[in-house]
Amino acid sequence: MRTLRRIGVLTGGGDCPGLNAVIRAVTKDAIFHGLEVVGIRDGYLGLIEDRTRPLSVADVSGILTAGGTILGSSNKASPQRFPVGKDANGQSVFGDVTDRCIATIKKHNLDAVAVIGGDGSMTIASHLAQSLSALGVPIVGIPKTIDNDLYGTELTFGFLTAVSIATEAIDRVHTTAASHHRIMVVEVMGRNSGWIALFAGTAGGADIILLPEIPFSFDAVQAGIARRQSMGKTYTVIVCAEGARPKGGQKIVARIDPSSPDPIRLGGVGKFVADELESRTGIESRYVVLGHTQRGGTPVPPDRILGTEFGHHAMQLLRQGKFNRMVALKGTGLGDPNDLSDVDLSVPAGKQRLVPVDTLPGGDREHRLISAARAVYTSFGDEL
Ligand code: F6P
Repeated sequence: MRTLRRIGVLTGGGDCPGLNAVIRAVTKDAIFHGLEVVGIRDGYLGLIEDRTRPLSVADVSGILTAGGTILGSSNKASPQRFPVGKDANGQSVFGDVTDRCIATIKKHNLDAVAVIGGDGSMTIASHLAQSLSALGVPIVGIPKTIDNDLYGTELTFGFLTAVSIATEAIDRVHTTAASHHRIMVVEVMGRNSGWIALFAGTAGGADIILLPEIPFSFDAVQAGIARRQSMGKTYTVIVCAEGARPKGGQKIVARIDPSSPDPIRLGGVGKFVADELESRTGIESRYVVLGHTQRGGTPVPPDRILGTEFGHHAMQLLRQGKFNRMVALKGTGLGDPNDLSDVDLSVPAGKQRLVPVDTLPGGDREHRLISAARAVYTSFGDEL
C-alpha cells in the first residue's frame, strides 16, 4: 500500500440519513491525521466523469445533522456497466469504463477511496478493488442503507431514522383509523427485506405486519381483523413492507429502470391490500405510502453516532493498511469495544440480509422480535 496522503470519498446508491455524518467524520479524521480529502460527486458517476471537489474542515462543518449528502449520489452509474452509446434502435449500449475511474484516481493522486454505500455500491467496489490493486490503492466500505439489508453487518446507519419516521407515521395513522373505524394500511420501504416494517410496526403497535419474508394469506389477515373485532376493536392498522406478497403471489413492481444496476423498484402493495380487504370485509380501508419521506431529513441521534464511528473506523482500517474491507457492526452498537469490526468488501456483494424467520438447524434463528410481536397479538398474516 502507498503512503496515505490523499483520499477520495463518495456516497453511492439511494441517499440515506447519516451520509453527511460519515462524510464529516471521514474528512475531519483524515485532515486531523495530516491527509487531504477529495470529495467525489454523485457516486460512481463522479469517478467515471471526474466530478470532484476538495473537502476541507470548513466544508464539512455543520453538516452532522443535515439529511441527504453534500456530495450527491446516484443509483444508476456502475463503472462495470455504463452507457457508452446507442445501438441502431436507439437503445443504450453498455460497456466497462473502469479505466475512466482509474484515470480519475490517478489524476487526483488518490491513495485510497472510501465508498459509503449499500449492497450495489459494495458490489461495484469489490470489482473495482481488483483493478485498483495493481496501483496499490485500497477501497474501504462504509455500510449505508435505510433497508438494513446489507450482508456482513447487523446494522447500517440510516435504518433507525427510517424506523423513527415510519413509527411516527403509524402513530398518526392510528388515531385517524380509530376515529373512522377504518382499516389503514401503511406501506413502508425496505426492498426485499422487512426490517423497517418489523421494527416500525412493532414500535407503532401495528395490529398486522406484512413482511416479504413471511408470505401472507388474506384469510389470515381477515382472521386477525376478526380477532380484533371480537375484542371490541373497530379499526385495524396494518404495516406492509413494499416487498410483501401473498402466498403464491408476486411482489408488486412499481417501475423498472433499465439504466440502474438494481432496476426493480417495488411499490403498490399497500393499495392492493387495502382494496382487497375493503371488498372482503366491507370495512372502509385507506392506504398511505411513506416512500422517500423515510430517507429524507435529519438523522436521529443513533445514526449520527453510528455515522461518526463508522467514518472513524474506516480511517483506522486504512491507517492499519487493511485492504478492501467494509466496516461492520456485530453487537449492540452501545460502545462494546468488540462491536465494530470489518469484513472483506466482497462479503456483502450481490447478497441481501433478510429478516430471519425460521429457526433452521445450524442456520439463523428466527428474529426475536417476531415472537415478541406475536406475543402481543400482532399478526403476520400467516396464521388463521
Ligand atoms: O434502498 C433504499 C430504497 O429507499 C428502498 O427502500 C427502495 O425500494 C428504493 O431505495 C427506492 O429507490 P429510488 O430512490 O430509486 O426510488
